[in-house]
Amino acid sequence: MYISKITGLGSYVPENVVTNDDLSKVMDTNDAWIQERTGIKERRHIKKGDGNSTSVMGVKAAKIALSRASLGPKDIDMIIFATLSPDMYFPGGGVQVQEALDMRTVPALDVRNQCSGFVYALSVADQFIKTGMYKHVLVIGSENHSGGLDFTTRGRGVSVIFGDGAGAAVVSRNETGKGGILSTHLHSEGKHKDELSLQGPSTQYWVPEIIEKNPQEDIPYYPYMNGTFVFKHAVVRFSEVIKEGLEANKLSVSDIDMLIPHQANLRISQFIQEKFKLPNEKVFNNIQKYGNTTAASIPIALTEAWEEGKIKEGDLVVLAAFGSGFTWGSAIMRW
Ligand code: UT7
Repeated sequence: MYISKITGLGSYVPENVVTNDDLSKVMDTNDAWIQERTGIKERRHIKKGDGNSTSVMGVKAAKIALSRASLGPKDIDMIIFATLSPDMYFPGGGVQVQEALDMRTVPALDVRNQCSGFVYALSVADQFIKTGMYKHVLVIGSENHSGGLDFTTRGRGVSVIFGDGAGAAVVSRNETGKGGILSTHLHSEGKHKDELSLQGPSTQYWVPEIIEKNPQEDIPYYPYMNGTFVFKHAVVRFSEVIKEGLEANKLSVSDIDMLIPHQANLRISQFIQEKFKLPNEKVFNNIQKYGNTTAASIPIALTEAWEEGKIKEGDLVVLAAFGSGFTWGSAIMRW
């Protein structure tokens, strides 16, 4: 068995900054509410004509990650692309990356696990590398939320939270003998699938409905979230899956050097931090700047933490995610 390691990280967010005040001009919301409930100050939205899309942003993040891994697109053996907001219903973002980076005809796998997407994708990459099948896997999380949110007061409970952006990681066979992914832990509980969902477009809300009926009051084309319900489950599952990961490696909370929680809500991160009694410097948050970027949130945060020198060789880094499905997971890594 081989050990895998993240050898390159990259992120990209669109230039267009959307503040809470900007949102309050189009819906009944305000900066105080958004900051108090979520910690978010601003987020990035793709601007029409800026050339960005989910796959384009993914490619931009991937290029940075590849150069930091000192690899070219042709060195990659597999692409794993996590998103809930693909450019097209099908095919997914993986093949778009394969084309854009002129990669070999390597497999392109699309992961649809929403906020847990990056941890799921990382876990898949880890398995392929552990078995020796592949040497370098490109893992991308990218989201274009702004293209599909309800920016009227009706959608304010959801639309103020989400932002656009992408993060990428090159996961490689660890040739250094130092560090690597120790374990990953994945879960799901489909009975809560409706609580955070986008029901159309889908085979339930298919083309005839869109074209023939298109009723203004029909909302399955916008995401639905039972926020309080999701929040309550999130804090429990985050805690469980972090503990599960630590226990599997005979580690304890005091061994954590850096916890990177999926940036769902600053209050959720703070709840976990308090529960585990972790000091501020051991929990990384950037939701204040980007909102919740779903599958992109962990790789963007991981990239920034690393760029800011907050992750050093030998550190124990814990990633944890929870989201729609519900799905949740963690990854325990020695940097
Ligand atoms: O990343 C995937 C996982 N997602 C999550 O983990 C999200 C988890 N949930 C949350 O983060 C929070 O539940 C929210 C931030 C979404 C909402 O916060 P909350 O404290 O649960 O608020 P609420 O939904 O209970 O709404 C409280 C009030 C309501 O008004 P009334 O009924 O008390 O009069 C809402 O209509 O706040 C109102 N409200 C707003 N007011 C101003 C909801 N959204 C807004 C808004 N601006 N944007």
